[in-house]
Amino acid sequence: MIITIDGPAAAGKGTLSQKLADRYCLAYFDTGMVYRAVGLLMLKGGRDLKNVLVAESEAEELTYSKMIELSTDKDFRSAKGGQAASIISGYPGVRARLLSMQQDFAKNPVFEDGRPAKGVIYDGRDTGTVVCPQADVKFFITAKPEVRAKRRYDEFIKKGMKADYEEVLRDVKQRDERDATRKDAPMKPAEDAIILDTSEMDIEAVFEKAAAIIEKKLK
Ligand code: C5P
Repeated sequence: MIITIDGPAAAGKGTLSQKLADRYCLAYFDTGMVYRAVGLLMLKGGRDLKNVLVAESEAEELTYSKMIELSTDKDFRSAKGGQAASIISGYPGVRARLLSMQQDFAKNPVFEDGRPAKGVIYDGRDTGTVVCPQADVKFFITAKPEVRAKRRYDEFIKKGMKADYEEVLRDVKQRDERDATRKDAPMKPAEDAIILDTSEMDIEAVFEKAAAIIEKKLK
């Protein structure tokens, strides 16, 4: 079984994906990680994020295991890391070079400890439209920018990171704009995606709703 969960930054895709992956024993691929990994390599190498050729070459070299290794870096999930990922993800050549790594995962999905899984949950912006258009169930999760910014702000504070709500809100809006307006694979719901607006829902309610939809589809 393949499930895709797309939507804007901080809509709750990650939490929902992990809960669904646990419930249905599926492996989980957070596709934002491929862009965060390339963005981080650029930052660490002191590269100009506007340098498309360097970004393409970092994307070309990236492997799944290298991405997992980079994910433990303190800047991987930081606002700076998110901005870098957002910028380089706008380059079509970078996206093209990172596509097969994402698609290959569904051919042989594994859990974090290497055990094989019988399916996968993809989380991202274009997983239902580009990475895996053949997915069995597709969701598009969204929420008002202010709600998403508050959730992201709370996450930073919980992790002991410095954060300013207004700055997080600006960042969320800027990333929405970039994701929605890039020419190549702009963020949009797949035609057959189920759209869930989580502005007024807590994670348990979103999870129960999504699980009910999956079970109906599976019957
Ligand atoms: O989801 P996350 O915030 O980790 O994603 C980091 C950045 O990677 C996003 O701002 C988005 O621009 C980009 N991204 C993308 N396509 C995906 C997943 C993430 O362009 N499938």
